[in-house]
Amino acid sequence: MNEQALSAEQAWESLESRCRACTACPLGASKTNTVFGTGSRTARLMFVGEAPGEQEDRTGIPFVGKAGQLLDKFLFAVDIPREDVYIANILKCRPPNNRDPDPAEEDACIGYLREQFRLIRPKVLVCLGRISAMRLIKPDFRITREHGHWFLKGGVWMTAVYHPAALLRDPAKKEDMLRDMMAVKEKLREIVGNAENE
Ligand code: URA
Repeated sequence: MNEQALSAEQAWESLESRCRACTACPLGASKTNTVFGTGSRTARLMFVGEAPGEQEDRTGIPFVGKAGQLLDKFLFAVDIPREDVYIANILKCRPPNNRDPDPAEEDACIGYLREQFRLIRPKVLVCLGRISAMRLIKPDFRITREHGHWFLKGGVWMTAVYHPAALLRDPAKKEDMLRDMMAVKEKLREIVGNAENE
């Protein structure tokens, strides 16, 4: 392994162990597992959801419950292999009863996501749902009106799509989701050429 790869490896190890030992908010004490993030650490495309749910808390892997399985279907539909992207959440620990993250919990946790982002340096970032978009794109983000819109921030193309859990509640939104995911695929093509999400 060359020196650069080694130091990236060390940075990931240090970040992950700090995150797993975190007590910056009360969720560290109530969680079963830390849901750090999963996927390619050299991904061009990164997805950021809200917070782990029950299945994620149980397994330690983001988006593996019903919402995650639906996300997988959309990734498959637009031919983006899940293992080629990085998937994380704003919060790394599950809020009890899947309530919305508290702003203080987001503040306590957001540094881990920022470090993940700095290490991965994705070209395209997709917020899954309103909570992620309000935190990462702009505080007054309106998901119904602004899903699928593109924002260029610090050289990174950012957009938000409906949270897959919202699609489970309202299947009529799936059409918009497919259109938005196709646009994500197209944006990747534009940026990284036909090599796609390599
Ligand atoms: N919902 C999220 O926002 N993240 C997960 O990991 C699972 C469900």
